[in-house]
Amino acid sequence: MSPRPRVAAAPGAKGKPITLSSLAERKALGEPIVMVTAYDHPSAQVAEESGVDVVLVGDSAAMTVLGYPSTVPVSLEEMLMLAAAVRRGLTTPLLVGDLPFGSYEVSNEQAVATAQRFVKEAGCDAVKLERGGSSIDRARAIVQAGIPVMGHVGLTPQTATALGGYRSQGRTAERALEVAGDALALEEAGCFSIVFEAIPSDLTDELMPLLRLPVIGIGAGPATDGQVLVLHDLLGMYDGHAARFVKRYANIRKQMVAGLHAFAEDVRARRYPQPEHGYTMAPDERERLRELLQTRRMEGASALDFEV
Ligand code: KIV
Repeated sequence: MSPRPRVAAAPGAKGKPITLSSLAERKALGEPIVMVTAYDHPSAQVAEESGVDVVLVGDSAAMTVLGYPSTVPVSLEEMLMLAAAVRRGLTTPLLVGDLPFGSYEVSNEQAVATAQRFVKEAGCDAVKLERGGSSIDRARAIVQAGIPVMGHVGLTPQTATALGGYRSQGRTAERALEVAGDALALEEAGCFSIVFEAIPSDLTDELMPLLRLPVIGIGAGPATDGQVLVLHDLLGMYDGHAARFVKRYANIRKQMVAGLHAFAEDVRARRYPQPEHGYTMAPDERERLRELLQTRRMEGASALDFEV
């Protein structure tokens, strides 16, 4: 694909691609950054039209669209296919691809190779990875390879088991200090932005003055530079457990079920299709067809003889 022009975008200005510098500018101006997830072409078009700033092809796709029990099983190939579909529906928001579990932890080489696939094959502008620890080195290596990286600290679902489950993080001073250390190290490694997930707003308040990069929160209180929600959670398309921080702005699933139910009822009652949903033949063509069918039948024609 052709490279996108790198110009700073005004808030909500559809058609002007969002860049790393426009996000930094938003932070400097105190203008909140809006990020959502998307996993396919129609949801990308919806994100484009609604004027969000950043679209994340999150590994939450594992649960929201692929039906896995957690984010862990989703493969790199699956993520690349989803990210490429999103790219085809998106021009304005910055597109971030989420590196799935197992695709970047082994070595810096593995991390760079995976990130390159998100950029080359799926057309992503940036990638996101989870955790501090060894991910800090991976983030630095990817940045040095010329690919922008978004960090992710606090509740990191890929390693939820090690964190004691899907629970908020940083509620003790010691654990909060670890989250702080990870966030600062990811900034130092060159990340352009970072996600804070499910941490106390008190911790966010303490960290915000220490960080220069734009922070996007999900369950991290109001002090972050922006907010992200999973599309299927916020639109009510997903029937699974919703975390405390989810606010539902619509109930699309209910409408989808109602729509399908109405379709099924119409088909069963022969109310659908109506004449306006079909095609017609001119009466003389239909008459000629009848004659042709009758002739072929009288001649005892096989299926092949029906070809003109
Ligand atoms: O995978 C995802 O959707 C995410 C967001 C919750 C930030 O990582």
